[in-house]
Formats: sequence, C-alpha cells, structure tokens
Amino acid sequence: MNNIQLVNKYGIWAVVTGASSGIGRAFASELAANGFNLVLVARRQPELFQLSSELEHTFGVEARVLALDLSDRSANEQLMMECEALDIGLLVAAAGFGTSGRFIDAELVDELDMVDVNCRAVTEQVHYFARRFARNKKGGIVLLSSIVAFQGVPKSSNYAASKAYIQTLAEGLYYELKPYNVDVLAVAPGPVDSGFAERARLSPGKMETPDIVAKQSIAALGKRLTVRPGMLAKLLNFLLTVPRYFRIRIMALVMAGMTKPQLKNGTISERGTK
Ligand SMILES: NC(=O)c1ccc[n+]([C@@H]2O[C@H](COP(=O)([O-])OP(=O)(O)OC[C@H]3O[C@@H](n4cnc5c(N)ncnc54)[C@H](OP(=O)(O)O)[C@@H]3O)[C@@H](O)[C@H]2O)c1
Repeated sequence: MNNIQLVNKYGIWAVVTGASSGIGRAFASELAANGFNLVLVARRQPELFQLSSELEHTFGVEARVLALDLSDRSANEQLMMECEALDIGLLVAAAGFGTSGRFIDAELVDELDMVDVNCRAVTEQVHYFARRFARNKKGGIVLLSSIVAFQGVPKSSNYAASKAYIQTLAEGLYYELKPYNVDVLAVAPGPVDSGFAERARLSPGKMETPDIVAKQSIAALGKRLTVRPGMLAKLLNFLLTVPRYFRIRIMALVMAGMTKPQLKNGTISERGTK
C-alpha cells in the first residue's frame, strides 16, 4: 500500500506513544514518511519536540507533542482531550518498559508502575480509540507485544506477563473489531536496539533495528494478526516451537545470559536490585 492509500484507509492523524525513543520513534518517522500527522507522546518533552520539528521539516506533516507520564492515572484523560477534535485513524501504543531479575528482589512499586504503563494505560487508550474507530468504521491499532509474551520468562516474570496481556488483548480485539473495518496488529519483536535494554538492566547480544520493526509492522497492518519483525524474531520463534514447558526453560537460559549480575548468595535485599 502506498502513502496516500494508508492515509485514506485510516485517516490523516496517528497517535504514537513512546515516540521519544526506539520503536515508537521509528514508527513516528515511518508514519510521517507515509503522510500522517502525528500526536507524539512520552515523558521526555525535549526529545519529542526535536522529533516533531524533524518530521515537520522533512515530511511536511504536522506533529504535536504531548509530554505525559503514562504511569500517572490521569495522563490518558489529557491524551483523549488533545485527540478529541482530530481525525485520528491510527493508534501505535509503543510506550513501555521492562524489568529484569528475580521478582522477589524487585521493588513492588516499580513492578506496579510497569503494569500501569504496559497494560493499564494501553487498555484505556485502546478502549477509547477502538470505540471511536468502530463508530467511524475505519482505523488501526498497533500494540507492542514481544517474543516473551508466549510463555513465562524466569527473571522477567512480570514483564513477560505484561506482554502476554497485550498479545491476548490484541488477539481478541482483532476479531471483535474486524466487522467494524478496524485493523489490530500485535507486534512481537525479539531484542531490539533501543533504550529498552538499559532501562531493563539487560545486556542482549544481537539486536534488530527499530526501523525494521516499524517498517515490517506497518506493512503487516491489516494483513496479519501478529507480526514478528526481523530475522531474529522469526528465528527465535522457530526455536521456541516446542511445548510451553520447554519454552519456559529455554527462556530461563536466555535470560540467564542477558541479566546483569544480581545479589550474592540469593539473599533478598530490602530495597530490591535497583
Ligand atoms: N527493545 C526490545 O528489545 C523490545 C522487544 C519487544 C518488545 N518491546 C516493546 O516495545 C515497546 C517500545 O520499547 P523500545 O524498545 O522502543 O524501548 P525504549 O527505546 O526505551 O522506548 C520506550 C518508550 O516508552 C516511553 N515510556 C516509558 N515509560 C513511560 C511512561 N511512564 N510514560 C510515557 N512514556 C513512557 C519512553 O519515553 P520516555 O522515557 O520519554 O517517557 C520511550 O519513548 C515497549 O512496549 C517494549 O516492551 C521492546
């Protein structure tokens, strides 16, 4: 599908959360290249303003900045107010982060923050935009799942659970919204070179670029339910085509190789690992 067709199919405005970095930033650039005006959401306002002027200058689109902390329970109200008068046709919910290490060592407040950003905020956004899109009989919703979404992952238990929630939500909505001409896509990448690993305290080896993730996801929207962008995600998916019991153990080995050193002697600190 070319630029004009995409904008015609969905509408001229797209909302991209997590646009200040990594995958969200790559989606924003790719959508601007396809002629979409953008509402760019994340906490870091300077990065968003820099991106918006870059996109406006390069592609001649309009890009609005909305600095929000999506772990804040009232943040989405502002997003909805900003979007009320705009012809929004696409939601890319890429804001999210991960944690790593033993769940019992983690600070509960960090784990709940992650559930708020990765799950609660996305649920609110999807509920609002899915209703609007269904009324308009057109729209697209892109949700960031992960290769970790398909089984439990020791030392990333809560993050993997948050992504399993997103994958399952996308799968159900794909069929619920089909009769309304609304496309839903779950994007399930393997490791991607972004700000994610540093925040999650991981040291991955080979990684995919955010650009590949964005390009292949946009190409898959409306054609597939789940996309595993890049060779790495496809390879990992192939290696994980074993019973769930074995997948959990394989992921435990993968995480053991990627998790930064933790506490000695298996002791549980009072403050967790951070
Ligand atoms: N990188 C990977 O290996 C990988 C693999 C599979 C899935 N994913 C998923 O892909 C998505 C994007 O991650 P990424 O790889 O692009 O990581 P990233 O470079 O760290 O980007 C994360 C984005 O989320 C935003 N964000 C984080 N916390 C936020 C909050 N409280 N409120 C508002 N925005 C917030 C960040 O912006 P601010 O810091 O400015 O707020 C940033 O724009 C995530 O959902 C992640 O789970 C990543």
